[in-house]
Amino acid sequence: MKAVAVYPGQKNSVHLEDIPKPSVHDVPRGRGVLVRVLKVGVDATDKEINDALYGNAPPGCKYLVLGHESFGIVEEVGENVHRVKPGDFVTATVRRPGGSIYDRIGTYDMTSEEVYYERGINLLHGFLTEYYVEDEEYVVKVPPGLKHLHVLMEPMSCAAKAVQQAFEVQRRMRVWRPEIAFVLGAGQIGLLTTLILKLRGLRVYTIARSKPPLLKSEIVEGMEGNYISTAETPLEELARKVGKADLIVDATGSSQIAFDAMRTLGHNGVLVWTSITGGDRQVDVPSDRINLDWVLGNKLLLGSVNANREHFESGIKDLALGEVMYPGVIEKILTTPVQGLDNYQEMMKLLVEDNAALKVYVNVSDE
Ligand code: BGC
Ligand code: ZN
Repeated sequence: MKAVAVYPGQKNSVHLEDIPKPSVHDVPRGRGVLVRVLKVGVDATDKEINDALYGNAPPGCKYLVLGHESFGIVEEVGENVHRVKPGDFVTATVRRPGGSIYDRIGTYDMTSEEVYYERGINLLHGFLTEYYVEDEEYVVKVPPGLKHLHVLMEPMSCAAKAVQQAFEVQRRMRVWRPEIAFVLGAGQIGLLTTLILKLRGLRVYTIARSKPPLLKSEIVEGMEGNYISTAETPLEELARKVGKADLIVDATGSSQIAFDAMRTLGHNGVLVWTSITGGDRQVDVPSDRINLDWVLGNKLLLGSVNANREHFESGIKDLALGEVMYPGVIEKILTTPVQGLDNYQEMMKLLVEDNAALKVYVNVSDE
């Protein structure tokens, strides 16, 4: 069967591979789930992998099959599978456990090992292919009423984890009633984070470069958030106007902005970094000012990566709630379909060049 792959470490090596179709029996103890892939989303991580900035092939293999944002339909299950059945819509988690205690209790997104295993990214093949098979532990059911949001399940899980982690660490405050949130970046993670925070009742400012009106601002406003263009209102000016934020989530992909954000966090606040910055850029930071400010304000910086099953499940619930609160808004993120695995060059080109694309995804097969 066809698969879209790269040779990690080799720039712009995206190509088609012919790989064997997996079987439900590839997973031991009757726990296998065979999934026919319907759609796969791609994001900046796939771009960085194709730019040879990030990612590794499985041991002993020259290529890495791409794709970590999957949406498919169950075709066959092993005799001990209970969570899903043929005909169910599903997505799959991305990381697979290593050996640490955190891996062994299902929180593989919090592994304490340096090496991590991620399908389509690091050391494991991904989902940009016709079928995959997986242990039911890593397969997550998608309600049929959300099938129109297909490839958003995985990015939503990362946004759900970032917010969940922020609330978790803020239990240090005994009482934490965040009111103002800044979400930096209005790409898929920024928009989905905006949704989650609006559903939690915060006043959300979603901040990006481009001037409104444009699709991003329409989506933010559709969720009752405030879209701010830094071309009109620089971040520090916004903080002067509306107050510093209790919570900031950076999802810009820019380490410069991630550091700049440190100056606009309020006392006792938390700044969450989610960008995967595979490059090697260096920036100057006002370190004395930041250091003093962070100590005097008891501020917290938190990195958040990936997501486990719980975050997929809570993300899916928030998507369902989001559909009820803001009908028809979330699907506007799904801007840019590509028809079939054969069009992998077009997929990469759109990912790199189409600045207006909020989400590029491949229609792999029909329901
Ligand atoms: C993926 C995450 C992954 C991260 C780091 C992101 O694009 O969505 O699942 O953990 O890259 O590899
Ligand atoms: Zn991703």
